[in-house]
Amino acid sequence: MGKIKVLSPEVISKIAAGEVVERPSSVVKELVENALDAGGREVTVEVEGGGRKRIRVTDDGEGMSAEDALLALQRHSTSKIEDERDLFAIRTFGFRGEALSAIAAVSRMKVVSRKDGELAGVELKVEGGVLKGTEAVGCPLGTSVEVRDLFFNIPARLKFLKTQGTELGHIGDLMARVALANDPIHFRLLHDGHLLANYPVREDPSSRLAEALGKEACAKLHPFRIRGGEVEASGYAGDPGFNRANARGIYLFVNRRPVRDRLLMHAVLEAYRNLIPQGRYPVTVLFVELPPHAVDVNVHPSKWEIKFSDSEAVHRSVIQSIRGMLDRAPWLTESRASGKEDESRETSGAYGESRMPGSFPLPAREIFDLGLRPNAREIPAESSFLGQIAKTYLVFESPEGLNLIDQHAAHERILFEKLGGEFSRGSISSQPLLLPESIELPVDEAQATEEHLPELERLGFVVEPSGECTFWVKSVPEILAARGPIEALREIIRGIVSWGKQAGLPRPFDPLLQMMACRGAVQADQALGPAEALALTADLRDCHSPSHCPHGRPTSIRITVSDLEKMFGRK
Ligand SMILES: Nc1ncnc2c1ncn2[C@@H]1O[C@H](COP(=O)(O)OP(=O)(O)O)[C@@H](O)[C@H]1O
Ligand SMILES: [Mg+2]
Repeated sequence: MGKIKVLSPEVISKIAAGEVVERPSSVVKELVENALDAGGREVTVEVEGGGRKRIRVTDDGEGMSAEDALLALQRHSTSKIEDERDLFAIRTFGFRGEALSAIAAVSRMKVVSRKDGELAGVELKVEGGVLKGTEAVGCPLGTSVEVRDLFFNIPARLKFLKTQGTELGHIGDLMARVALANDPIHFRLLHDGHLLANYPVREDPSSRLAEALGKEACAKLHPFRIRGGEVEASGYAGDPGFNRANARGIYLFVNRRPVRDRLLMHAVLEAYRNLIPQGRYPVTVLFVELPPHAVDVNVHPSKWEIKFSDSEAVHRSVIQSIRGMLDRAPWLTESRASGKEDESRETSGAYGESRMPGSFPLPAREIFDLGLRPNAREIPAESSFLGQIAKTYLVFESPEGLNLIDQHAAHERILFEKLGGEFSRGSISSQPLLLPESIELPVDEAQATEEHLPELERLGFVVEPSGECTFWVKSVPEILAARGPIEALREIIRGIVSWGKQAGLPRPFDPLLQMMACRGAVQADQALGPAEALALTADLRDCHSPSHCPHGRPTSIRITVSDLEKMFGRK
């Protein structure tokens, strides 16, 4: 009895329909997933001409009998599910029974396979979906599927393929993703006979990370893990300072399946909110694990998209796991230079099993009442103040070495959290002006002001209409009282006007608070004495996210004694 069965029409009708084969990398994806589902431990991908000429994927998995191999090439034939219910308990990468037939229809395919216990293997040749020959052959256990001349019979599709380099890039990226999520498997990628990527099986999981993303990136990534209910979120997330212009450094997986998912992407970006500059993207590898019934993988023909049954729980777990780790700022406490990296990764349980709720990512109202106290502090309490450089950087000595603080960035962080705290508890402390000031605004701004008087009051500005487009400003935020409060108010009103243009978005108070913090903070080029400097660092130590200013610049830089020893050639 063969393993593979053709699905019933009822099940077929429930399977997300559409094209599986878009480009060479989609062929590689399907073939590699089959190799993994077959239990392969060694998976080799050979491509020629960026995959346009030839792709061959070889595995040492369970193989197929001659009978099964023939069935496998039919549409909707699969050994992975049988009935409708199985669609909600999918533990394999494949389940649609479509890939082999779809690829065979648009290429010249050769399948060679041998099952354990059988003396001879089978070789099948198919061209444009037509079986050209079957024979018994001698071959190793496992399966190899070769795909030549993709789209040879569909010139319109062929035209849409990109250059060899671009297609190869997609394949390399895909292999990195697959390798990241399957570290017990050895993967190799060869192009025109040259080994392009090698992912051997290693003890230490972070070596796979280094092979997929590069050593340099790996050193800036920190492990996180959180489990809440049925959802587990884990992975590696980068220092906020290590950010990019696009989202290509964000790798998302659900039950080890690489996915493109807006919800997860949003959660990752939320976790970094106010830590990296707007419009920049972090580097993050995220694994979400949850029971198969809690995720629908049957929404997209090539399985890149998924649907969660409780998307809110997933969103929350991801934010909390990453933000919890970031708030501890492990990049400030981990010793990398000394080669202790592996050790610190193994003991990652320390920030591993955290249940700490994320702070900023929550809506502003709830942020500051959680009483969080992250343990990573910029400046050890026993540090001493040495002086100021360029009237901008504060210099401290600590047992570990030297700490430099950017006084403006640090104060900005402090004020931002202070303002956020006041705002979330009600309103920002304000101070009446001795003489109310009158301002005149352009029509659109005047209208926005009228509509948002309560919001302005929460931000610390008490404003009253006094005519068509004129207003009395009666009170201003305390921290801005001496720092051009009216100018700040005008800027805030302009910010509010732009809310109207982003209909549907939650009202982004953060940028307004950021702006106020920036205006209220001590500026660069301002002399500070020891008492002020120490007070500033003490306040910074008490922040939830002391490492960066709200725009994403670092607040402090640490130079350890060991760094100094290296610089002076002692080590
Ligand atoms: N590399 C392989 N090793 C063993 N069996 C395979 C391999 N590739 C495909 N098969 C068999 O062929 C069937 C059809 O494959 P495919 O068309 O990709 O559909 P699916 O993976 O969705 O089941 C699979 O269910 C599996 O039984
Ligand atoms: Mg498959």
